[in-house]
Amino acid sequence: MVQTIVSRFKLDEETQTFICTVPMFHIYGLAAFATGILAAGSTIVILSKFEMDEMLMAIQKYSATYLPLVPPILVALVNRAAAIKRKYDLRSLHSVLCGGAPLSREVTEGFLDKYPNVTILQGYGLTESTAIGASTDSLEESSRYGTAGLLSPCMEAKIVDPESGKALPVNRTGELWLRGPSIMKGYFSNEEATASTLDSDGWLRTGDLCYVDEDGFVFVVDRLKELIKYKGYQVPPAELDALLLTHPDITDAAVIPFPDEKVGQFPMAYVVRKTGSYISESAVMDFIAKQVAPYKKIRRVAFTASIPKNPSGKILRKDLIKLAESKL
Ligand SMILES: *[C@@H]1O[C@H](CO)[C@@H](O)[C@H](O)[C@H]1NC(C)=O
Ligand SMILES: *[C@@H]1O[C@H](CO)[C@@H](O)[C@H](O)[C@H]1NC(C)=O
Repeated sequence: MVQTIVSRFKLDEETQTFICTVPMFHIYGLAAFATGILAAGSTIVILSKFEMDEMLMAIQKYSATYLPLVPPILVALVNRAAAIKRKYDLRSLHSVLCGGAPLSREVTEGFLDKYPNVTILQGYGLTESTAIGASTDSLEESSRYGTAGLLSPCMEAKIVDPESGKALPVNRTGELWLRGPSIMKGYFSNEEATASTLDSDGWLRTGDLCYVDEDGFVFVVDRLKELIKYKGYQVPPAELDALLLTHPDITDAAVIPFPDEKVGQFPMAYVVRKTGSYISESAVMDFIAKQVAPYKKIRRVAFTASIPKNPSGKILRKDLIKLAESKL
């Protein structure tokens, strides 16, 4: 894990100053801050809890060079760019590392537009793989929009058809399986869960729907279990989340499957409006309908004050599904 982090972020060439925005009990913080970066002798500035202004102040005060974060913080940096750049001197910052949940093309481009001198890097990993499974090492690699990057050293991967269990070729979407020295041995005292996640050859079923392109770049499409099934078509909610976030009146959003007798499920959006915005349900639906295939259209909208997320910024769709179904 330490070797992967040191080599991926080239910390053997130059030490850096990092701001720690993620909790250390989460694999992101554990792998990066509690072990890898510390082992490399870099400086870590720890925020006692995440607060946007405190983070920006810390970058300025300690001349931080690297800022690892999660997509919601990145989105906030883009949306508030003008005010942030007026108030803080962020010239020391040369890279942000984004992980924890997929980053859309729109958000990536928005960030590059607002912070042209900051390289955006992405990483992919999960608790069960204990380290970064894949990452981008340069802006050039990150501009393959939507990619999580190349596999980490010593990591093997294959894409498996979830129905047939067969390995799939380049460009085909299926479940990502990983194998390597950092993969977990199993879940603590839970043989059943371990057996359904790790096979006898040591392959870890990640539960993530991915494809790999001809050059070996991994693309995360969605969580396997999170796909919305509309009349048998598969709709990845993360794609609609990303589109919603490009609307100037929308601060945050999450799309979930809504049960329906005729079509099975259809996409429903929970939307956080920007302060002072009165955008309507139908305006939100029209905005998406203009940009996607008909089966991907959002067919129901609810406004909410915030989107529930875990500490790494991943949307807790299960909570929203429960909320939506409680109102049926
Ligand atoms: C980016 O860096 C260049 C060269 O150091 C500098 O001239 C320019 O002002 C910087 N741009 C921003 C937006 O900070
Ligand atoms: C994979 O997809 C890319 C982009 O659409 C295309 O250029 C390439 O030819 C495809 N390769 C294969 C083997 O299907």
